Amino acid sequence: MPTALVTGATAGIGAAFARQLAAEGHDLVLVARDRARLESMAASLPTRAEVLSADLASEKGCAAVEARLSAGVDVLVNNAGLGVHGRLLKASVEDELRMFDVNTRAVLRLMLAALPSMVARGSGDVVNVSSVAGFTARGTYSATKAYVTTLSRAAQVDLAGTGVRVCAVCPGFTHTEFHDRAGMNMTRLPSWAWLSAERVVGEGLRDLRRGRSVSIPSRRYKAAVALTRLVPMRASAQISSRAGRDFT
Ligand SMILES: NC(=O)c1ccc[n+]([C@@H]2O[C@H](COP(=O)([O-])OP(=O)(O)OC[C@H]3O[C@@H](n4cnc5c(N)ncnc54)[C@H](OP(=O)(O)O)[C@@H]3O)[C@@H](O)[C@H]2O)c1
Repeated sequence: MPTALVTGATAGIGAAFARQLAAEGHDLVLVARDRARLESMAASLPTRAEVLSADLASEKGCAAVEARLSAGVDVLVNNAGLGVHGRLLKASVEDELRMFDVNTRAVLRLMLAALPSMVARGSGDVVNVSSVAGFTARGTYSATKAYVTTLSRAAQVDLAGTGVRVCAVCPGFTHTEFHDRAGMNMTRLPSWAWLSAERVVGEGLRDLRRGRSVSIPSRRYKAAVALTRLVPMRASAQISSRAGRDFT
């Protein structure tokens, strides 16, 4: 059985990745902090699932997941991530650094731990869950996601010919626990702007398997990202910032 390791596998997009990959016949390694939720997720899947409770903001947590990846997996989904609420100087430095460590450092470390055995075997898939926010410049969250998207593009170029595929999946607003955890009130977001986690995962895996280094689920968010390329960065950041004020 091929094995997939998914971080942030107990909720939202990560749980949808775990369900989809299990439905395709992958054994799973499920990573998050809450062990009880991990065990309940593992019990709900149709294939074999290990649980690995780890805080990816910590050295110890990252090292434990790196060790499991070094033993070899077929698929890595670097999905765990969080946002801090508000503009620059609103969040504490501690909260900013926790987000930075989970959204960027852990993603890099886990990808580097997974790649050697994939390259040696001549096959493997890495999905890094990024965001459409990474195409604009609003807050430190968007900066972490710009890093993830560029890292994935660079890895795809460097790994050409090795049989290993890397894709940054860049969702727009998706129904998950993310906004509640960040303390954002999303009641004013129109219903058409929301995606489902299942759709993000379905389109993300399809684009990965087509060899794309970036996946932007849905036509509406593809169009939004195309617009960010047409207007100056400052203007797109201001539009995004004005829209963001509705959710504070
Ligand atoms: N939802 C959106 O609108 C949206 C849009 C664009 C991109 N994204 C990205 O999608 C990814 C998944 O987010 P989501 O919306 O599915 O969020 P979510 O529903 O809040 O789920 C987050 C998952 O990550 C785990 N997690 C959080 N902090 C962790 C840590 N320090 N160490 C290990 N695991 C941790 C959580 O479990 P524990 O709490 O038990 O650790 C949970 O399983 C993130 O990278 C996010 O930036 C989301």
